[in-house]
Amino acid sequence: LPLKVSAIAPVNIAVIKYWGKRSEELNLPLNSSISVTLHIDDLCTKTEVTFSDGEDDIICLNGIEESVSKNPRLKRCLKIVREHSKKFCSKEVKSKKCKIVSTNNFPTGAGLASSASGYACLAKCLGTVYDAYIDHSIIARLGSGSACRSMYGGFVKWEKGELSDGTDSIAVQVASENHWNSLRVLILVVSSQEKSISSTEGMRRSVRSSPFLQYRVEQCLDERLKLMEEAIQSQNFESFAEITMKESNQLHAVCQDTYPPIIYMNSISHEIVQLITAYNDQKIKVAYTFDAGPNAVLFTLEEYYDELLATLLNYFPPTNSNNSNNSNNSNNSNN
Ligand code: DP6
Repeated sequence: LPLKVSAIAPVNIAVIKYWGKRSEELNLPLNSSISVTLHIDDLCTKTEVTFSDGEDDIICLNGIEESVSKNPRLKRCLKIVREHSKKFCSKEVKSKKCKIVSTNNFPTGAGLASSASGYACLAKCLGTVYDAYIDHSIIARLGSGSACRSMYGGFVKWEKGELSDGTDSIAVQVASENHWNSLRVLILVVSSQEKSISSTEGMRRSVRSSPFLQYRVEQCLDERLKLMEEAIQSQNFESFAEITMKESNQLHAVCQDTYPPIIYMNSISHEIVQLITAYNDQKIKVAYTFDAGPNAVLFTLEEYYDELLATLLNYFPPTNSNNSNNSNNSNNSNN
């Protein structure tokens, strides 16, 4: 086995949202979720793991080094691969400490799912080098729930699983990256600031206080998961888009129902919802979705893309053409 491994992993965006855990210890969700993996070169994490005789396992995230012992999530990932490492995994790997170097090419904590691609990447590296005999998406899930869905391209379902040890709570591909070639994704970066409340803390708070979350899990999700899978398989854009928008609305309604409430969308996010709603007046041509931050991800079809882009640029004229990727300066920068 090599003593150095590297991997890249993309971000994913959920169209059936994961919100709420039944086990914090193992990162087990209350419900299954479905996402689309975004194959965008500018939205990836790259991770490299090397082995040495050092004292400690080390993580270096975007240039900042710390001991893995200070990071309980990483510790969990390493512990499980070491426990499940195959007998024949090389002694060098087994006996040595590792140094994990991970870099994103986009802002961390801005609701662009950087932890998802980060842990997926780590899981690919560790799973390979330790030759772990568990589903490698479990390693990613222990780092961050949504990360398990970044282990595959295309359309991915995270099965919530039933077992208390979480061995059946894994990611499976629903359709490959070549399945729906006319689907297009647009990311509207409303703000690249760090989110105020992490998803982990937000979920904890919702599970504790929101009766609407309980209703969602018990009464809504089975039907939505089924309809979403059908919409993906049959490439039914209108159905896909409608469920995607309803899911985003419901997630943020749960956040509002949480006490104290959690607010991730800002006034620009709400303007985007209104704009898209008006745009879809005659026919659904685009879907919006928001996660734990104000940025919007839009799905559309190739045939509507140019017209949609022109409408968006007309409504939100670029503020500064030299800085059109993202902006760090204000909450309301609308690129
Ligand atoms: C709103 O996977 O970041 O993006 O498991 O605590 O790390 P942890 O949470 P995380 O939550 C993602 C929440 C979401 C919805 C989703 O991606 O399904």
